Amino acid sequence: MTSNPAGNDVDPQFRSDVIAGLSQRQKAVPARWLYDLAGSELFDEITRLPEYYPTRTETALLKAVVPQVAEIVGEGRALVEFGAGSVTKIPLLLNAILPSAFVPIDISGDFLRSSAGALQKDFPDLPIHPVEADFMKPIRLATGVADGQRLGFFPGSTIGNMVPHSAVNLLRSMRDTLDEGAMLLIGFDRVKPRDILIPAYDDAQGVTASFNLNLLERINRELGADIDIGKFHHKAIWNDAESRIEMHLVAGSDVRFAIAGEEFSMQAGESIHTENSHKYDLRSAHTLLLAGAWTPIMDWSDEKDWFSLVLAEAQPLRMAP
Ligand code: AVI
Repeated sequence: MTSNPAGNDVDPQFRSDVIAGLSQRQKAVPARWLYDLAGSELFDEITRLPEYYPTRTETALLKAVVPQVAEIVGEGRALVEFGAGSVTKIPLLLNAILPSAFVPIDISGDFLRSSAGALQKDFPDLPIHPVEADFMKPIRLATGVADGQRLGFFPGSTIGNMVPHSAVNLLRSMRDTLDEGAMLLIGFDRVKPRDILIPAYDDAQGVTASFNLNLLERINRELGADIDIGKFHHKAIWNDAESRIEMHLVAGSDVRFAIAGEEFSMQAGESIHTENSHKYDLRSAHTLLLAGAWTPIMDWSDEKDWFSLVLAEAQPLRMAP
């Protein structure tokens, strides 16, 4: 950590990602930086918006299929959640699969400890081992947890926020963390008509716009920048070739600004690309899992085919022709 002009701590990775990303021809900032405290609260608000269907669709689907999941995975596995935040979804799984332990993994230690503490109150006998780590890299699990079989849980279609090659790297690293014989329950948001997708990422109340624009506020505050935020607006577009929603911050007029002593300029209409949200059909979701060395064994979708939960297994890697 270093300090900004206001004397606050700055993550050097944030500074270098912003400077490098805004120096590209298509300006871009990694989506993980959307989630400071204000951004996380705005995302939480997004999940309750009428237009944002993924959270409520996945939760209803999980509620409906959890007995079938439990029948396949059996009792007594350790449940490992990648990104601890599914406060409504985790109890559904815990009650159904009766795990030997619960291991939430998250990069934000404070968030992790508070959600693990709250859960422990409802499940007093469950051993909970929070791990503060970046789950993009393989993690060594505690000895007790590493002894039996494991079930990974990666809900929310967060896999969709990664470009496919990063998604495959993550799936492989999850396999390394969970080991052969493990299972993974993972949520995929499905391809659907634009008139459903676009409002989900550009809602009438403007919460998603605030979530996106908050990145500029964070850059100004933490990196001592002087971006005129009023000149930018939020835009969500469907990129059909890449099967994804993209969020952009578009400059409405020519702008100039400085970040940590570096000068930048943008012309009217130019944008900063801030997030991808890939949408999958079932076949491409299966192919992605297979590329990450996970074999799909079962899947469930809601009646509109808007969201799918896929159960996959880390089967032994055999010689292929
Ligand atoms: C966290 N992630 C799955 C959300 C999504 O739908 O891609 C992030 C989000 N961005 C705008 N709205 C929601």
